[in-house]
Amino acid sequence: MSKDVYILGIESSCDETAAAVVKNGREVLSNIISSQIVIHRKFGGVVPEIASRKHIENVMPVIDAALQEAKVGLEDIDAVAVTYGPGLVGALLVGLSAAKSLAWASNKPLIGVNHLEGHVFANFLADPELEPPFMALVVSGGHTALLKVTGYNSFELLGQTRDDAAGEAFDKIARIMGLPYPGGPEIEKLALDGNPLAINFPVAKLDAPYEFSFSGVKSAVINYVHNQQQAKREINRADVAASFQHAVVDALVQKAVHALQETGLKKIVLAGGVSANKTLQNTLAEAVEKVGAQLVHPTPILCTDNAVMVACRGYFMYQAGMRSPLDLNAVPSLKLG
Ligand code: KG4
Ligand code: ZN
Repeated sequence: MSKDVYILGIESSCDETAAAVVKNGREVLSNIISSQIVIHRKFGGVVPEIASRKHIENVMPVIDAALQEAKVGLEDIDAVAVTYGPGLVGALLVGLSAAKSLAWASNKPLIGVNHLEGHVFANFLADPELEPPFMALVVSGGHTALLKVTGYNSFELLGQTRDDAAGEAFDKIARIMGLPYPGGPEIEKLALDGNPLAINFPVAKLDAPYEFSFSGVKSAVINYVHNQQQAKREINRADVAASFQHAVVDALVQKAVHALQETGLKKIVLAGGVSANKTLQNTLAEAVEKVGAQLVHPTPILCTDNAVMVACRGYFMYQAGMRSPLDLNAVPSLKLG
């Protein structure tokens, strides 16, 4: 039997400072997340300078807690995996500096992880039988993309959004409706009492089969709300939330199903914060089943930012012999695929 592999994962790309220990890529020994959401909520979104400062305060205690909960020491760790992009540069640098210092001091390999690939790999913890090739629908605060995962370390980007990311659209609509940051979960909650077919918010139809555009639907909602306000007509907020969510989910599902049909792939995974959305999970699961495919999505805690996904992605890179130099820099606009 081969030796067990323990990876320490570190994540600090946005407003969560997180560390985790994962055994053999599939077994979570610890998952520590220190969220700054309450702090940034006062400002209606993430304030980069505050995020960096909070990461500095939290990063070492969070790493210590992850090792302690996993009942391992640095000497038991096989490699340190860390998000090096995409994300806020000042935020990324904190986790990256901590990871580099630990790797250097303990003489363990450093593995730089693409945050978005991390989100995709959170699905390996949800489905023990998951293996490439499969399709991934990446829906985070900064990205919306269809990605073909052709191997554990090979990806093919089929298409992405031309403007807003799905999560960004949720956050912006929430903001104009006076809901707190982050907007996605708030819209989802409000939509529970609304009629998704009450208002028709059209999503742009693009010729490119795998590309998305959400700026049109966002403007349609903003215009609707303003027009109603100017006409002094009451707004049914739950209907607005439900109809907006319906429009976004519908566009995502249509493109994802098309991608499965074109590629013949039988599994699709959801990745990124918006994958926590139950309407998206349920609608997509039903739609892909009709074309003979199966949906996998992470457990709620692994949908949004965490370090388990970073450790999991790091494990597969470690097994493939991939290592990063100790002068690895943060890449704020690191690409997918
Ligand atoms: O992946 P993530 O935690 O951070 C990034 O890498 O961007 O994604 C955050 C995004 C935010 O835009 C947030 O509003 C959205 O995910 N989100 C949701 C839900 N939970 C988080 N959007 C819709 N429904 C949700 N339940
Ligand atoms: Zn993320």
